[in-house]
Amino acid sequence: MGIHSRKSIEKLIMDADDGERSLKRTLTAGNLVALGIGAIIGAGLFVRTAAAAANNAGPSVTIGFIVAAIGCALAGLCYAEFASMIPIAGSAYTYSYATMGELLAWIIGWDLVLEYAVGAATVGIAWSEYLNKLLGIFGMHIPYEWSHSPFEKLTDAAGTVTAHGIMNIPALIIIFLLSMLLIRGTKESAVVNAMIVISKVAIVILFIVLGWSFINPANHTPYIPPASTYNDAQGVAHNYGGIWGILGAAGVVFFAFIGFDAVSTAAQEAKNPKRDMPIGILGSLVVCTILYILFAHVLTGVASVEDFRTKGKEASVSYAIETYMHGYSWLANLVTVAILFGFSSVILVMLMGQSRVFYSMSKDGLVPKMFSDLHPKYHTPYKSNWIFFFIVGGFAAFIPGDIVGDMTSIGTLFAFILVCIGVLLLRKSHPDLPRQFKVPYVNIVAPLGVVVCLAMIAGLGWTNWARLFGWLAIGLVIYFAYSIKHSKLNNESK
Ligand code: ALA
Repeated sequence: MGIHSRKSIEKLIMDADDGERSLKRTLTAGNLVALGIGAIIGAGLFVRTAAAAANNAGPSVTIGFIVAAIGCALAGLCYAEFASMIPIAGSAYTYSYATMGELLAWIIGWDLVLEYAVGAATVGIAWSEYLNKLLGIFGMHIPYEWSHSPFEKLTDAAGTVTAHGIMNIPALIIIFLLSMLLIRGTKESAVVNAMIVISKVAIVILFIVLGWSFINPANHTPYIPPASTYNDAQGVAHNYGGIWGILGAAGVVFFAFIGFDAVSTAAQEAKNPKRDMPIGILGSLVVCTILYILFAHVLTGVASVEDFRTKGKEASVSYAIETYMHGYSWLANLVTVAILFGFSSVILVMLMGQSRVFYSMSKDGLVPKMFSDLHPKYHTPYKSNWIFFFIVGGFAAFIPGDIVGDMTSIGTLFAFILVCIGVLLLRKSHPDLPRQFKVPYVNIVAPLGVVVCLAMIAGLGWTNWARLFGWLAIGLVIYFAYSIKHSKLNNESK
C-alpha cells in the first residue's frame, strides 16, 4: 500500500452512495448536454477563432477546429467509458485512483485545478473585458485601475504609462455571484445554465445564418494559405499557413473545447449516469464541433485576416458584423451580451467541476474534510465553494489573463492523456466489469488520443511545459507532506 494503492471499483461505487452525505441525483441527459455546452462555448470561440485565423491558419482555422475536435473526441470516448462504469463525482481523478494508484490520482486531481480553477479565473478576466465593452455602448466604463491586475499597465501611443491596474473587481464579482449560485444547488444552477446555453447557442446560430450571405469569396481564397511566418504585434513569430499553420491553430482553438469533460464531474448528480454520461459528453462535443466549424467559416468569410490582425483583435466578431454586415449593428451588441452570458456559464461549470473533484479527493482523505462537507439544506459542498471563491477570485483579481490561459490548456491535455491510458489499463485489469458504453477499437482510439494530445502539448512550447512541471512539483510536496498520511485507503489497510 502507499503511493500504489488503488481503490476497487466496487468500493468506489459503494462509497458514493453514502446517504445524507452524498450529492443529490437530479440531472437528466438533457441537463448534462446543456452542462457540457455551457462549459464549452465561450472565450475560445468568440475570441480565439479570430486570433488563430490571424496568426496561424487564415480561413483554414476551420480545419484546425477539426483537428482539435478529433483530439477531444478520442479523449471524450475514453471519458464516456469511464463515466458510464464509474458514475461518481471526481472525473479523471476518480478514474485514475481506480486504475493507476493513489499517487497518479493525486497528480491528476492537482492537475485538474489548472483546468477548472485556473480556467474559471481566465474566463472571469475575459468577462471583465467584455463588461467594459457592454458599458461602452451606454457611454460608461469601469476605470482601468479597477478592471486590471496590478501587473498590467496602460500606455499611450508614445509609450507613456497612463494607468496602472490595482485589482480586477468585475472578475471578482462574477466569480462571487456564480459561487453563490452553486451553493444554492446543482438543480438551480442547471436551470440558470440551460437558459444561458439557449441564448448563446441562439446567437451563434443567428450569426451563422445571417452572416452566410455576407461571405466574400475573396476572403476564403486561398482557403489554406501557403506556408510562411507571421510576426504578431508583440513580435512573436508564428507558423502561418500550410500544415503547421493548421496544427498551430488547433492548439489555439483547443481552448474552445475545454469543458466537455466537466460533464463527467457531475456523474454523481446524474439520474441515470450509465446511459446519460456518454450522451452528455459526446452529445455536447458533437453539437459544439458543428457550430464551431460553421461559425469559423462564416467569420473568416465576412472579414479578412488583415482585419483580424489590425482592427478586430479580441472583439473581431463584433468588428466583422459592424463593418461588413450593414444593418445588423444590433447583432454586434447582442453578441457582446451573449458573450457575457456565455462566459458566465463557462465559469459556472468550471467552478462546479473544481468543487466536485475536491469533494471526491476529500472523501478519500487526500485533502481536508471541509472540502466534502455538504450544506445541511442545499446538499452542496458549500465550504469548498467558498474556499475556491477566494482562490479563483484571487487569481482573477490579481493575475493577468494571458498567464493563466495556456496553463488551463496544458493542464487539460495532461488530464486527457491520463484518461486515455487509464481506459486501456482498466480493460486489462477488469475485463469483465460491466460497461454501459465501450470505446470502439480501444487499442487504436486510446493510444491515438494520447498522441494527438501530446502533439498539442508540444505545440504549447517549453515555458508552458516548465509551468506544468512546477505546478506538479508543488502538488507532490503537498502529497508527501499531508495526503499520504491522511489517505483513508492507506489507513484502512494498516
Ligand atoms: N471552452 C471554454 C471557452 O472557450 C473554456 O471559454
